Amino acid sequence: MSPVTACLLALLTVGFLVVKQDASVLQEVEADALAVEEAERATSVSDKITQLTQGMETCVDNEDMNCLLAYLDDNVRVMREHHPVQIGKTEARKHMKWIEHDFDATLEIKEITPSTDGSIVVERLKITMKFPNGTSIFNGKGVFVWKKVNNDYKVYIDIFNDN
Ligand SMILES: *[C@@H]1O[C@H](CO)[C@@H](O)[C@H](O)[C@H]1NC(C)=O
Repeated sequence: MSPVTACLLALLTVGFLVVKQDASVLQEVEADALAVEEAERATSVSDKITQLTQGMETCVDNEDMNCLLAYLDDNVRVMREHHPVQIGKTEARKHMKWIEHDFDATLEIKEITPSTDGSIVVERLKITMKFPNGTSIFNGKGVFVWKKVNNDYKVYIDIFNDN
């Protein structure tokens, strides 16, 4: 090998190592950016679901059935204790007379877990309902499975039961 060739080879090797080093740094930066993006997405989904849940609580407190129905997916599955599953908004509406009573509902969020792509969100709640005089009517737990519909979320599965 001539000194010139050796020199060129050495330069090439150094060049290759530098490029390789840059690529791995770039990969790390990209991975960090992805992790941040995913965490941000999870936080924003979580904030969104929290807002929606508060909105639903207000509908119940205002005895407003249409307000509450607006949060449900058209093909919602409502699963209540001692009742067969109700499928669809029209069916769900028939079983929503309870909302006409004057009571205070509390939907206390225990957990919000979005799927990685954010298309589905599982929310676990503690649910209490009281008459205005404080007498308890319902003390239970529930799960909402939210489905992404356009840029919004709708309740696709709604399961509640009494403690
Ligand atoms: C509270 O109000 C409800 C509904 O009006 C009534 O049935 C209940 O007896 C009241 N409880 C007390 C302790 O006054």
